[in-house]
Amino acid sequence: QKEGYPHYMIKEIHEQPQALVRTIEPRINPDNLPDFSADGIPDSFFENCSDITVVACGTALYAGMAGKNMIQNVLGIPVSVAIASEFRYERPVINENSMVIVTSQSGETIDTLEALRLARQYTHKTLAIVNVKGSSIARESDQVLYTHAGPEIAVASTKAYSVQVASFYLLAAKIGLVQGKMTKKEAQNFLATLKEMPGRIETVLSHEKRIQDLTDRFTNVPNAFYIGRGLDYRVAMEAALKLKEISYIHAEAYAAGELKHGTISLIDDGVPVIALATQHKVYSKVISNIRETKARGAYVILISEDKKITDPTICDVHFSIPKVDDIFSVFESIVICQLIGYYTSVNKGINPDQPRNLAKSVTVE
Ligand code: M6R
Repeated sequence: QKEGYPHYMIKEIHEQPQALVRTIEPRINPDNLPDFSADGIPDSFFENCSDITVVACGTALYAGMAGKNMIQNVLGIPVSVAIASEFRYERPVINENSMVIVTSQSGETIDTLEALRLARQYTHKTLAIVNVKGSSIARESDQVLYTHAGPEIAVASTKAYSVQVASFYLLAAKIGLVQGKMTKKEAQNFLATLKEMPGRIETVLSHEKRIQDLTDRFTNVPNAFYIGRGLDYRVAMEAALKLKEISYIHAEAYAAGELKHGTISLIDDGVPVIALATQHKVYSKVISNIRETKARGAYVILISEDKKITDPTICDVHFSIPKVDDIFSVFESIVICQLIGYYTSVNKGINPDQPRNLAKSVTVE
């Protein structure tokens, strides 16, 4: 059922626009406002929510990181993100007004499930963002938001990430409206931009060949770095996971401003640095961080909104994404990075659908 694609992973990367439509459209009503009535989640669930804790593992955790960055910046509500296997053995700092969002594609990850069980001893505002219908996490949480991404077969998560991130955006619009932190107009504009994401991903996918060509260079490198600030840094975390899990290249995500506090000593001739610079507020800061890596010989791939980069001292390869509000660039940037991971794996003769030592679902401890 690969439908002509050589691997499930690339098929699932291409399914992202449709998967996003299935996640987003049923939750936006004809007035362009967030609507969870078909999910059976009442507005009262979002009232009196003082803080949010996202609990998850792996890719789902990184989707939560992107969600945290966006929700805090848009709504000003404190959000913490906890690794499920840590959260479940620590003292949870939550109360009955805390919302706990457990995020899981499979809905069966044992640490996330146990973290949910623990959270429910403190609050009944637990909400699961889950893909697999009727899974344990979906059954045990107070509310469920199904992502409707369709089956994800490849071990490396791709479409599950995009729809999880989109779910956080839908939730932000709802919480913002219910708590008076967003006006109707603001929520409508926010959701109108969210609706543009599937089309924008189609455009990224039309540049697939260029991304494939650039990965030829990665076949023999032992290390790679993904850098960015703000939301870009959160995207970098998932991007680095995508490269390492299927290509076996050691990849690290770094907050660009942290480079000179240690990591820059690892930058040497030819080390790939994938730099994300889509956040307007910190654009010039990231560019100066990139220059620092370039000056030390890094091979820099830049993802930004610039139409063209003519200064060869900034980067070796440039991918331009169309202008968009800072908080929405994640949807396009991550697809470029998923393709970098996929083609690097294929170039190295690895089966990206079945990387060594990894299972699709981690149901035992
Ligand atoms: O099914 P889950 O979303 O709970 O799985 C969590 C992680 O095991 C998973 O996201 C994993 O990190 C990805 N498959 C990696 O691409």
